[in-house]
Amino acid sequence: MATVVSVSGAGQFLHHYPKLATVVTVKAEGRENALAIAWHCALSFNPPLYGVAISPKRFSYELILESKEFAINFLPIESVKLIAAVGRTSGREFNKFERFQIATAKPMKISAPILGDAYAAYECKLVAHHTYGDHEWFVGEVVATHYLKEAFDAHEVLNVEKIKPAFYLGNDLYAELGKIAVHHLGREDVKY
Ligand SMILES: Cc1cc2nc3c(=O)[nH]c(=O)nc-3n(C[C@H](O)[C@H](O)[C@H](O)COP(=O)(O)O)c2cc1C
Repeated sequence: MATVVSVSGAGQFLHHYPKLATVVTVKAEGRENALAIAWHCALSFNPPLYGVAISPKRFSYELILESKEFAINFLPIESVKLIAAVGRTSGREFNKFERFQIATAKPMKISAPILGDAYAAYECKLVAHHTYGDHEWFVGEVVATHYLKEAFDAHEVLNVEKIKPAFYLGNDLYAELGKIAVHHLGREDVKY
């Protein structure tokens, strides 16, 4: 398997990429912000819980602690410039929505804006948070879901012929799904 091994830690810690490049939005007392997030994960079906890892260095960290809400927006590769823009600037310097002319849609249950370019987004109310190393793990309960109907099939599975999600490889490199091959492998197919 591995030809290069290290016993001194995780190196650049990029071996587990690609990750879906998402944008987390937040609004606290009139101050709205957006940042790129690659470290995120679904945690529970019932209740629906979603986690995001955010460094305390980020302006968004303060806003999430204040508002106790956030939204996570899933974007197509066409929105890669927007992802890079909100991921390489800080809302402490300027309003990213105005500077980058980011189109938004109205949230239903929280105050964080939903991105107009998102093919799906979850509105989350903060239910827990905990410090792990140099990041804070924020856990949100999904209280409302937005998704482009035509981008999903009847089972709410993304149609990757229609939408190519934005993947992040690390080091400012982004990728999209190439030649599409979707494999259906159910329980009946996995008997060895
Ligand atoms: C593709 C991408 C993914 C990122 N993922 C994360 C992440 O998971 N957690 C994090 O704290 N910062 C992440 N960042 C960095 C923040 O998005 C970046 O520091 C941003 O400028 C913070 O903005 P803010 O200060 O307005 O909150 C990522 C950046 C990029 C470009």
